[in-house]
Amino acid sequence: MEILGIDVGGTGIKGALVNIETGELTTEKHRIPTPKPATPEAVANTIQVLVNHFNWKGLVGCGFPTPLQHGKCLTGGNLHEDWQGIQVDTLFESKTGNDFSIVNDADAAGLAEINFGAGKNVKGTVIMITLGTGIGSGLFLDGKLLPNTEFGHVLHKNGEIFERYASDSARKRDDLSRKEWGKRLHKYFKHINLLVSPDLIIVGGGASKKFDKIEDQFDIDVDIVPAKAENEAGIIGAALAAKYQIK
Ligand code: BGC
Repeated sequence: MEILGIDVGGTGIKGALVNIETGELTTEKHRIPTPKPATPEAVANTIQVLVNHFNWKGLVGCGFPTPLQHGKCLTGGNLHEDWQGIQVDTLFESKTGNDFSIVNDADAAGLAEINFGAGKNVKGTVIMITLGTGIGSGLFLDGKLLPNTEFGHVLHKNGEIFERYASDSARKRDDLSRKEWGKRLHKYFKHINLLVSPDLIIVGGGASKKFDKIEDQFDIDVDIVPAKAENEAGIIGAALAAKYQIK
């Protein structure tokens, strides 16, 4: 069975058809730059262009980069403040005529890793952490997702959240070497380890590339591994979330 998977990100909106039994993309990925400003209307228009590109009539699974509850955006986060309070699935459905299932982007990436990647067949507590414009989290127990966690918003110090301190955009903003970034991530993962005592931490986004240079800085008593699906995890996981009707 195929589902159209879409990953809405801060810089690009990407989609592909996904075979949800194998987790493979059955078409080329198509990417459209995220409109600036990324208002609900502008993003909904881009979603429509993407759905038309695939000439898709059917279910769409869509990963979304903000705090969510049952498909409703709780705050606009790194996207746009006008998203707050918007029922995202209803908006995209009315724009395209397709059924939409909305899932947090890090939950989506985690679903892909749990089913087909670094978290496959891992028992116990697994946490996926994505490091991009923001920091996202997906928390799993024996392969089952507890949706909508926001561990990027854990406080670092002086009211500053860890996302501001250790995301990939913080690395770029502060022009950090891999070693310096690794030190910040060490602090973050140490704190995460204290909060949830996971059996495995899977790291996605910018840090999953050149991971060896970063992991030298980690001295924490938990397995920390890079994601396998990298850029495609968001698309694959969004399609899976639609299959499982995760909200
Ligand atoms: C948002 C999360 C999202 C993460 C990655 C954070 O700013 O609060 O919901 O998963 O960015 O996009």
